[in-house]
Amino acid sequence: MTRTPLIVGNWKMFKTASEARASIQALLPLIASSPRQVFIAPPFTAIAAAVESAKGSRLGIGAQNMHDASEGAFTGEVSAAMLKDLGASFVILGHSERRSHFLESNAFIYRKVERALEAKLIPILCIGETQEQRDRNQTLSVLQTQLKECLGGISDLSSVIIAYEPIWAIGTGKTATPAMAQEVHRACRQLIEQEWGKGLAQQIRLLYGGSVKADNISTLMKEPDIDGVLVGGASLDPKGFAQIICYQSLEG
Ligand code: PGA
Repeated sequence: MTRTPLIVGNWKMFKTASEARASIQALLPLIASSPRQVFIAPPFTAIAAAVESAKGSRLGIGAQNMHDASEGAFTGEVSAAMLKDLGASFVILGHSERRSHFLESNAFIYRKVERALEAKLIPILCIGETQEQRDRNQTLSVLQTQLKECLGGISDLSSVIIAYEPIWAIGTGKTATPAMAQEVHRACRQLIEQEWGKGLAQQIRLLYGGSVKADNISTLMKEPDIDGVLVGGASLDPKGFAQIICYQSLEG
Protein backbone atom coordinates (compact mmCIF):
# COMPACT_ATOMS: atom_id res chain seq x y z
CA MET A 1 0.00 0.00 0.00
CA THR A 2 1.48 3.37 -0.96
CA ARG A 3 0.82 6.23 1.38
CA THR A 4 1.34 9.69 -0.16
CA PRO A 5 4.11 11.54 1.71
CA LEU A 6 2.72 14.52 3.62
CA ILE A 7 4.67 17.52 4.91
CA VAL A 8 2.82 19.71 7.41
CA GLY A 9 4.04 23.10 8.61
CA ASN A 10 2.82 24.19 12.04
CA TRP A 11 3.41 27.92 12.32
CA LYS A 12 2.35 28.04 16.00
CA MET A 13 1.90 31.68 17.20
CA PHE A 14 3.97 33.21 14.41
CA LYS A 15 2.99 35.38 11.43
CA THR A 16 0.28 37.98 10.96
CA ALA A 17 -2.18 37.63 8.08
CA SER A 18 0.01 39.79 5.82
CA GLU A 19 3.14 37.85 6.77
CA ALA A 20 1.29 34.59 6.03
CA ARG A 21 0.29 35.92 2.60
CA ALA A 22 3.89 36.89 1.79
CA SER A 23 5.27 33.55 3.01
CA ILE A 24 2.85 31.51 0.91
CA GLN A 25 3.47 33.64 -2.16
CA ALA A 26 7.22 33.05 -1.69
CA LEU A 27 6.77 29.31 -1.03
CA LEU A 28 4.47 28.30 -3.89
CA PRO A 29 6.86 28.79 -6.83
CA LEU A 30 9.60 26.94 -4.94
CA ILE A 31 7.48 23.81 -4.48
CA ALA A 32 5.49 23.89 -7.73
CA SER A 33 7.20 20.82 -9.16
CA SER A 34 7.13 18.78 -5.94
CA PRO A 35 4.85 15.73 -5.98
CA ARG A 36 4.51 15.79 -2.20
CA GLN A 37 1.36 16.80 -0.42
CA VAL A 38 1.86 19.93 1.70
CA PHE A 39 -0.27 21.43 4.47
CA ILE A 40 0.26 24.61 6.48
CA ALA A 41 -1.42 25.47 9.78
CA PRO A 42 -1.19 29.23 10.40
CA PRO A 43 -2.67 30.91 13.50
CA PHE A 44 -6.48 31.35 13.37
CA THR A 45 -6.16 35.02 12.37
CA ALA A 46 -4.14 34.17 9.23
CA ILE A 47 -6.20 31.21 7.96
CA ALA A 48 -8.42 33.24 5.62
CA ALA A 49 -5.41 35.08 4.12
CA ALA A 50 -3.54 31.78 3.75
CA VAL A 51 -6.50 30.10 2.03
CA GLU A 52 -6.76 33.00 -0.38
CA SER A 53 -3.01 32.93 -1.14
CA ALA A 54 -3.03 29.16 -1.67
CA LYS A 55 -6.01 29.24 -4.05
CA GLY A 56 -5.34 27.35 -7.27
CA SER A 57 -2.38 25.47 -5.73
CA ARG A 58 -2.27 22.06 -4.07
CA LEU A 59 -1.29 23.55 -0.71
CA GLY A 60 -3.83 22.68 2.00
CA ILE A 61 -4.51 25.16 4.80
CA GLY A 62 -5.74 24.16 8.24
CA ALA A 63 -5.80 25.10 11.91
CA GLN A 64 -3.70 24.29 14.96
CA ASN A 65 -6.61 23.72 17.31
CA MET A 66 -10.36 24.10 17.79
CA HIS A 67 -13.01 23.67 20.49
CA ASP A 68 -14.93 20.45 21.14
CA ALA A 69 -18.40 22.02 21.01
CA SER A 70 -20.27 22.88 17.84
CA GLU A 71 -21.08 26.33 19.17
CA GLY A 72 -21.87 27.99 22.48
CA ALA A 73 -20.81 30.42 25.17
CA PHE A 74 -17.08 29.68 25.04
CA THR A 75 -15.37 33.05 24.95
CA GLY A 76 -12.31 33.11 22.75
CA GLU A 77 -12.87 29.69 21.18
CA VAL A 78 -13.33 28.58 17.57
CA SER A 79 -15.48 25.71 16.23
CA ALA A 80 -14.91 23.16 13.48
CA ALA A 81 -17.67 24.72 11.34
CA MET A 82 -16.00 28.13 11.58
CA LEU A 83 -12.73 26.66 10.33
CA LYS A 84 -14.43 24.76 7.55
CA ASP A 85 -16.24 27.89 6.44
CA LEU A 86 -12.91 29.73 6.13
CA GLY A 87 -11.65 27.03 3.77
CA ALA A 88 -9.58 25.00 6.24
CA SER A 89 -9.17 21.36 5.23
CA PHE A 90 -7.53 19.93 8.37
CA VAL A 91 -6.94 20.63 12.05
CA ILE A 92 -4.07 19.66 14.34
CA LEU A 93 -5.46 18.25 17.59
CA GLY A 94 -3.78 17.35 20.88
CA HIS A 95 -0.46 19.03 20.18
CA SER A 96 1.79 18.61 23.22
CA GLU A 97 1.89 22.40 23.70
CA ARG A 98 -1.92 22.36 24.04
CA ARG A 99 -1.73 19.39 26.40
CA SER A 100 0.93 20.97 28.62
CA HIS A 101 0.12 24.72 28.58
CA PHE A 102 -3.68 24.42 28.36
CA LEU A 103 -4.12 21.12 30.18
CA GLU A 104 -6.00 19.38 27.37
CA SER A 105 -6.98 15.83 28.29
CA ASN A 106 -7.36 12.81 26.03
CA ALA A 107 -11.15 12.92 26.62
CA PHE A 108 -11.31 16.54 25.47
CA ILE A 109 -9.19 15.73 22.40
CA TYR A 110 -11.43 12.74 21.61
CA ARG A 111 -14.45 15.03 21.43
CA LYS A 112 -12.52 17.41 19.17
CA VAL A 113 -11.67 14.54 16.80
CA GLU A 114 -15.38 13.67 16.64
CA ARG A 115 -16.36 17.30 15.89
CA ALA A 116 -13.62 17.65 13.26
CA LEU A 117 -14.78 14.50 11.46
CA GLU A 118 -18.40 15.65 11.55
CA ALA A 119 -17.32 18.92 9.90
CA LYS A 120 -15.25 16.99 7.32
CA LEU A 121 -11.97 18.40 8.56
CA ILE A 122 -9.01 15.99 8.53
CA PRO A 123 -7.84 15.58 12.14
CA ILE A 124 -4.08 15.36 12.65
CA LEU A 125 -3.87 13.81 16.11
CA CYS A 126 -0.59 14.42 17.95
CA ILE A 127 0.74 11.87 20.41
CA GLY A 128 4.09 11.68 22.17
CA GLU A 129 5.98 10.90 25.35
CA THR A 130 8.06 13.08 27.66
CA GLN A 131 11.76 12.45 28.26
CA GLU A 132 10.92 11.12 31.71
CA GLN A 133 8.40 8.62 30.31
CA ARG A 134 10.94 7.48 27.70
CA ASP A 135 13.62 7.04 30.40
CA ARG A 136 11.17 4.86 32.35
CA ASN A 137 10.44 2.73 29.29
CA GLN A 138 6.84 3.92 29.22
CA THR A 139 6.84 5.26 25.63
CA LEU A 140 4.63 2.60 24.08
CA SER A 141 2.15 2.43 26.94
CA VAL A 142 1.78 6.24 26.90
CA LEU A 143 1.17 6.23 23.14
CA GLN A 144 -1.26 3.31 23.41
CA THR A 145 -3.30 5.18 26.03
CA GLN A 146 -3.30 8.37 23.94
CA LEU A 147 -4.41 6.50 20.81
CA LYS A 148 -7.13 4.53 22.61
CA GLU A 149 -8.49 7.48 24.57
CA CYS A 150 -8.33 10.01 21.71
CA LEU A 151 -9.75 7.71 19.01
CA GLY A 152 -11.34 4.79 20.85
CA GLY A 153 -15.04 5.00 20.04
CA ILE A 154 -14.76 6.47 16.56
CA SER A 155 -15.92 4.03 13.90
CA ASP A 156 -14.43 5.53 10.75
CA LEU A 157 -10.84 6.62 11.16
CA SER A 158 -10.00 6.52 7.47
CA SER A 159 -9.37 10.26 7.17
CA VAL A 160 -7.41 10.59 10.44
CA ILE A 161 -3.67 11.30 10.37
CA ILE A 162 -1.46 10.63 13.38
CA ALA A 163 1.65 12.62 14.26
CA TYR A 164 4.14 11.05 16.62
CA GLU A 165 5.96 13.92 18.30
CA PRO A 166 8.24 12.95 21.18
CA ILE A 167 7.92 15.94 23.50
CA TRP A 168 11.63 15.98 24.23
CA ALA A 169 12.32 16.56 20.51
CA ILE A 170 9.96 19.52 19.97
CA GLY A 171 11.77 22.82 19.51
CA THR A 172 14.87 21.43 21.22
CA GLY A 173 17.05 20.57 18.23
CA LYS A 174 17.09 16.98 19.55
CA THR A 175 15.56 14.72 16.91
CA ALA A 176 14.72 11.10 17.45
CA THR A 177 17.07 9.12 15.23
CA PRO A 178 15.34 7.65 12.18
CA ALA A 179 15.69 4.21 13.77
CA MET A 180 14.08 5.37 17.04
CA ALA A 181 11.22 7.04 15.17
CA GLN A 182 10.73 4.00 12.92
CA GLU A 183 10.56 1.67 15.93
CA VAL A 184 7.78 3.75 17.49
CA HIS A 185 5.93 4.20 14.19
CA ARG A 186 5.99 0.45 13.57
CA ALA A 187 4.68 -0.19 17.08
CA CYS A 188 1.90 2.37 16.56
CA ARG A 189 0.92 0.75 13.28
CA GLN A 190 0.76 -2.64 15.04
CA LEU A 191 -1.37 -1.15 17.75
CA ILE A 192 -3.73 0.34 15.20
CA GLU A 193 -3.95 -3.05 13.52
CA GLN A 194 -4.90 -4.70 16.81
CA GLU A 195 -7.54 -2.10 17.64
CA TRP A 196 -8.94 -1.13 14.25
CA GLY A 197 -7.80 -3.79 11.80
CA LYS A 198 -5.17 -4.34 9.17
CA GLY A 199 -6.84 -2.26 6.45
CA LEU A 200 -6.73 0.93 8.50
CA ALA A 201 -3.22 0.18 9.81
CA GLN A 202 -1.89 -0.08 6.27
CA GLN A 203 -3.69 3.01 5.07
CA ILE A 204 -3.29 5.48 7.94
CA ARG A 205 -0.51 8.03 7.61
CA LEU A 206 1.88 8.35 10.54
CA LEU A 207 3.90 11.58 10.61
CA TYR A 208 6.99 12.23 12.67
CA GLY A 209 7.48 15.62 14.37
CA GLY A 210 10.20 17.16 16.51
CA SER A 211 13.11 19.26 15.17
CA VAL A 212 12.67 18.12 11.57
CA LYS A 213 15.00 20.06 9.27
CA ALA A 214 16.30 19.99 5.71
CA ASP A 215 19.30 17.95 6.82
CA ASN A 216 17.42 15.14 8.56
CA ILE A 217 14.23 14.74 6.53
CA SER A 218 15.64 12.42 3.87
CA THR A 219 16.82 9.84 6.38
CA LEU A 220 13.57 10.04 8.36
CA MET A 221 11.46 9.61 5.22
CA LYS A 222 13.47 6.58 4.14
CA GLU A 223 11.94 4.61 7.02
CA PRO A 224 9.04 2.43 5.88
CA ASP A 225 6.55 3.49 8.56
CA ILE A 226 7.25 7.24 8.45
CA ASP A 227 4.77 8.70 5.98
CA GLY A 228 5.50 12.37 6.46
CA VAL A 229 6.55 15.03 8.93
CA LEU A 230 5.09 17.78 11.10
CA VAL A 231 7.48 20.73 11.08
CA GLY A 232 7.39 23.64 13.53
CA GLY A 233 10.29 26.12 13.58
CA ALA A 234 11.77 25.07 10.25
CA SER A 235 8.48 25.70 8.42
CA LEU A 236 8.52 29.46 9.08
CA ASP A 237 11.06 30.45 6.46
CA PRO A 238 9.67 29.74 2.96
CA LYS A 239 13.08 28.88 1.47
CA GLY A 240 13.96 26.53 4.30
CA PHE A 241 10.52 24.92 4.26
CA ALA A 242 10.76 24.45 0.48
CA GLN A 243 14.05 22.61 0.98
CA ILE A 244 12.32 20.26 3.41
CA ILE A 245 9.40 19.70 1.01
CA CYS A 246 11.72 19.05 -1.92
CA TYR A 247 13.94 16.64 0.06
CA GLN A 248 15.84 14.10 -1.89
CA SER A 249 14.25 10.69 -1.66
CA LEU A 250 16.78 8.04 -0.62
CA GLU A 251 14.63 5.14 -1.73
CA GLY A 252 15.60 2.88 -4.59
P1 PGA B 1 9.64 21.77 15.90
O1 PGA B 1 8.10 21.64 16.31
O2 PGA B 1 9.79 21.32 14.48
O3 PGA B 1 9.94 23.24 16.07
O4 PGA B 1 10.42 20.91 16.84
C1 PGA B 1 7.33 20.54 15.86
C2 PGA B 1 5.92 20.69 16.38
O5 PGA B 1 5.73 21.18 17.48
O6 PGA B 1 4.94 20.31 15.68
